[in-house]
Amino acid sequence: MAFWNRRKPIEAPHHHQELKRTLSWPHLVALGVGAIVGAGIYALIGQGAGMAGPGVIVSFGVAGLVCACAALCYAELATMMPASGSAYTYSYSALGELVGWIVGWALILEYSVVVSAVAVGWSGYASGLLTGWGIDVPQMLPFGEIAGHAMHFNPLAVFIIFVVAGLLVLGTRESAWVNSALVVLKIAALILFLVIALPAFDISHFTPFAPFGWGSTPTQTGTNTGIMAAAAVMFFAFYGFDAVSTAAEETKNPGRDLAIGIVGSMLICTLLYMAVGAAAIGAMDFRGFAASGEPIALIVRSLDQPEAAAVIGGVASIAIPTVILAFLYGQTRIFYVMARDGLLPRSWARVHSKLGTPVIMTIFTAIVCSALAGLLTLGEIASLANAGTLAAFIAVAVSLMVLRRREPNLERPFRTPLAWIVAPAAILGCLYLFSSLNSGTIERFFIWMAIGIPVYLLWGSHKSALAQKAG
Ligand code: ALA
Repeated sequence: MAFWNRRKPIEAPHHHQELKRTLSWPHLVALGVGAIVGAGIYALIGQGAGMAGPGVIVSFGVAGLVCACAALCYAELATMMPASGSAYTYSYSALGELVGWIVGWALILEYSVVVSAVAVGWSGYASGLLTGWGIDVPQMLPFGEIAGHAMHFNPLAVFIIFVVAGLLVLGTRESAWVNSALVVLKIAALILFLVIALPAFDISHFTPFAPFGWGSTPTQTGTNTGIMAAAAVMFFAFYGFDAVSTAAEETKNPGRDLAIGIVGSMLICTLLYMAVGAAAIGAMDFRGFAASGEPIALIVRSLDQPEAAAVIGGVASIAIPTVILAFLYGQTRIFYVMARDGLLPRSWARVHSKLGTPVIMTIFTAIVCSALAGLLTLGEIASLANAGTLAAFIAVAVSLMVLRRREPNLERPFRTPLAWIVAPAAILGCLYLFSSLNSGTIERFFIWMAIGIPVYLLWGSHKSALAQKAG
């Protein structure tokens, strides 16, 4: 078999058991909701409304639908192959080593960049909160330019990334408990927003509905506008459920728990977002909050509820780090599995003897994410994370179809309903959203890929566990 087409065998769930099994479905729903609800709905919603106008509601619907199709594909593969590594592992088994590597490389982009994006979004809220207490910590400290790009240091973003990395190093159970408590707070704040915003609902704010058109139109500033352009950016707010599948090896009953965790957390968040989006536009003309870094709090303040706005801002500051937790966790586990497979240096997969967690990997990831958080703006980072995620989702849907054909008799604890409609819909939807991103993001994505493929050819193609076995 050609080296690039070597396929990782689909393993029995208990093949490697170094990570401790401590999680069940409530933890996973909490992990999923914790990963999904974050900077997207709390901060990016302003940018989305600025790109689409009131039609951002449709953008939410489109992004949610595409994510739902991908979530259903994920659930089948995650329960069929409850091994850590998510889309990377599924593609390696279904589509061969080269595609598996490409997907792993895209996931590094997704997870690391999401960690950075959310840390940057959080630093805005945290900086505002500290300023309110008379402590002045600037969000950005500029220090010159590299290749025409302004460089800055974001002390709060770096701080939060290292706090979360510390929790992960101490062990999954402890961090999952902290996570669950914060998830409840984060949802409660959005419900408080609905309670305050809905009585002020004014239907006239919805006309004209699509002031920038329905598609994705490039502007001179390098960004795109229109309902589909906003869908491609607001897609950021919807994903995170895939972080659940990266916890497969630490799940007590993967067949049941993963399906409930992925699909359940996805549904809860989609419904909540539709409601928050409609309430926000109904309560305030979209131009009023489009440029705000804290649109949800701003709208509540404008409705003469300053205390409630302070509560929402405070909750966002305390709870948004759950998203960082979920993605940093997912990232370290993907590195861990790629290293175990020999596609990255094997020493990276070492698990600490007492803590049972990959300590070196976690700290290394935190350093990379901190560096990224200082390089790009929130909008740029979110779009780039979307590009990596869309590529991974496409690979998952293709893997599902390939395995249904090639391995029809393998046990599937969860079967994607209407798979031959849902999987192609996920692929087409992701391709469409990808093409609706701005050209700068698409360019960065392909540069990242152009680096990754030679890395595989020079390292992984010789060093992978499968290559060593064949050799
Ligand atoms: N969905 C996550 C967020 O909105 C990435 O922060």
